[in-house]
Amino acid sequence: MTQYSKRMVLAHWLTLALLVAAWFLGDSLDEARHEGAATINGYLIHSLVGGAVLLLTVLRLYFRSKDGIPAPIGDGVMDKVAKGVHHLLYSTLFVLPVSGIMTVLNSDVGRAITSGDASLLPKKFTAVFAHEVHEVMVTVLIILVVIHVLGALKHQFVTKDGLMDRMLPRRK
Ligand code: HEM
Ligand code: HEM
Repeated sequence: MTQYSKRMVLAHWLTLALLVAAWFLGDSLDEARHEGAATINGYLIHSLVGGAVLLLTVLRLYFRSKDGIPAPIGDGVMDKVAKGVHHLLYSTLFVLPVSGIMTVLNSDVGRAITSGDASLLPKKFTAVFAHEVHEVMVTVLIILVVIHVLGALKHQFVTKDGLMDRMLPRRK
């Protein structure tokens, strides 16, 4: 096996698209809350897009166990680092949305959604540990993705070993 399966490739790029949307929606939500303009729909839409990342990650790990993955392109230290980063990325794709769900459940956001009363939406998440975890995990995700993309760029433009083709859509 020299490439990722089609559904693994689809899940990889769909995750990227959903993450960009969830990040943008989460940031806008944070800004709206500080301006006193957050809405229940804003929380619902962010939760749905973020929840889709979690579902897709579970599905992706199932595909991974069924389809397998191509062997590392080399056997040096950097290949081991890349493998470690992949595992950390999967862990983050799980912990980040789960901490979001815990934030909703452990704050007044949950009460506001179930009662449909936007005035219950919190002004602050002072004693909500899950919210702190959620914020930290957003930063962790960004750092991991930057390392991951730098690695991909190095393979594409420095070593030129065709690694990128393993994760690109193809016809056959
Ligand atoms: C992987 C997917 C997700 C990403 C990338 C993401 C990203 C973000 C970002 C960037 C913020 C703003 C950080 C801040 O509060 O300062 C945020 C806030 C938040 N997220 Fe997520 N999130 C994800 C999943 C979820 C899920 C699944 C839920 C709930 C079901 C959720 C609930 C929340 C809540 C309640 C806030 C607080 C918003 C506020 O400040 O008022 N997130 N998220
Ligand atoms: C422009 C952005 C991105 C590029 C160019 C890129 C590129 C790649 C490439 C080329 C591979 C295959 C590596 C190999 O064959 O050994 C890969 C795998 C992987 N990527 Fe990305 N990626 C990007 C964004 C992301 C994002 C945002 C995430 C998740 C947060 C992610 C998570 C992963 C994971 C977990 C794997 C390992 C798949 C496995 O072995 O199960 N990538 N990526």
